[in-house]
Amino acid sequence: MVEWTFTELEETGSTQAVAKELAEKGAPEGTAVVAKSQTFGEGRLGRRWVSPPGGLYVSFILRPVGLRRPELAALVAAAAVSEGVEEVTRLAATIRWPNDVMVSGKKLAGVIAQAQSSGADLDQIIVGIGINCNASVSGNPGAPDATSVAEQWGRDVEIPLLRTLVLDSFSRLYARWQRGADMTSVWRSRLSTLGKRVQLKLKTGETPFSGTAKDAEEDGALVMKDKSGILHIRPEDLEWLRELE
Ligand code: BTN
Repeated sequence: MVEWTFTELEETGSTQAVAKELAEKGAPEGTAVVAKSQTFGEGRLGRRWVSPPGGLYVSFILRPVGLRRPELAALVAAAAVSEGVEEVTRLAATIRWPNDVMVSGKKLAGVIAQAQSSGADLDQIIVGIGINCNASVSGNPGAPDATSVAEQWGRDVEIPLLRTLVLDSFSRLYARWQRGADMTSVWRSRLSTLGKRVQLKLKTGETPFSGTAKDAEEDGALVMKDKSGILHIRPEDLEWLRELE
């Protein structure tokens, strides 16, 4: 299990940047940085993550050894967030493949994972989790499909409790993943995307395309059927995905 040590901040630019600095100074796996608010929260693909007080913002360092697909850290973290949110609230929290956590079709949390390597060796992965908890996020023009735990649950969530449950869950899933266990059942049970019509854009592709999401594979790939046949999309190749139904 991961041994967590916390740096707790009132406000910072980005917990992701602070965790990266600590990692570069040699901080061990399990070093976690938590902030009550962020002035420059980092989202995927250079987007901003709006981070007022009343959210859960945490970044932590992983130093995995011998993992075949370190890129899957974000998917493992998204599964942990969905488990943690469900445990506290009993709301059905699912993953919009690969790493958005959704409740009632709206985005409640996002995950980012950034790996640093020296040559062929992986030095560390910094995983960042942002959960909209008690601050209202509806009406944000930059994130029209955003929601929060409080909006969905009808009352405020105890943020330290949610943090503990999400990180406990991450620790369990990470141990399984590191042992080389087959994670397919975790992906299948958590993904809202399976069976749906989706539209997606690949980082390398010019135009978005649509199809039906059929399955998830052990290596985190989404199996999709479109008019050209069956496609296997790897999470790291995706720019964005929308569920159409
Ligand atoms: C996304 O784009 O969906 C991912 C958002 C990740 C936001 C979190 S909040 C804690 C950590 N610090 C950051 O600056 N970003 C991540």
